[in-house]
Amino acid sequence: MSVDADPHKAIAMPEDLRVGVPTLDRQHLELDRLLRELEAGLQGGAASLELADRIQVLQALAEEHYETEEAVMAAYAYPHLGPHHAEHEALLERIHSEFQVFLAPNPPLIQGFIQDIRQVFHQHVRRVDQDYATYLRDRVGYRPLA
Ligand SMILES: [Fe+2]
Ligand SMILES: [Fe+2]
Repeated sequence: MSVDADPHKAIAMPEDLRVGVPTLDRQHLELDRLLRELEAGLQGGAASLELADRIQVLQALAEEHYETEEAVMAAYAYPHLGPHHAEHEALLERIHSEFQVFLAPNPPLIQGFIQDIRQVFHQHVRRVDQDYATYLRDRVGYRPLA
C-alpha cells in the first residue's frame, strides 16, 4: 500500500476533520494541504501569477470534492443533502467572488482571503460534514474497507 493510500499517515489530520470515507478524507487533506501551501507561499513572497494559478487549482479541487461528497450522500440517501449542497454552492461562490477581487487592479492583500477560506473550510467540515459522517457510521452502518 502506498503512502498516498492513507492520507492520515502522511500528515496528521485533526480527528474532527475526518469523515471516515477514504476518498473524501483524501480530498479534505489535499484541500487543506493546498491552503497551507498558499499561506506559506504568501509568507515566502511567491509571485501573484503563481498564486493565481494555485487558487484556480483550489477552486477546481473544491468543486471536485463537493461533487464527490454529494454523490456519496446521495448514494446513502442522506436526508440533509439539500441544505448541504446549498452550503457548498455558497462556499464556491465565496471563493470565486473573493478571487475576482484579488484579480482586479490594485487588489487587497490576499493573505486574509486565504486564511478566511481555510477557516471556513475547516468550519464546514467540523460542523456540516461531520453530520453525514455520523449518519453514515451510526444510521447506515457504513464501514470503510481501507
Ligand atoms: Fe467535505
Ligand atoms: Fe461538505
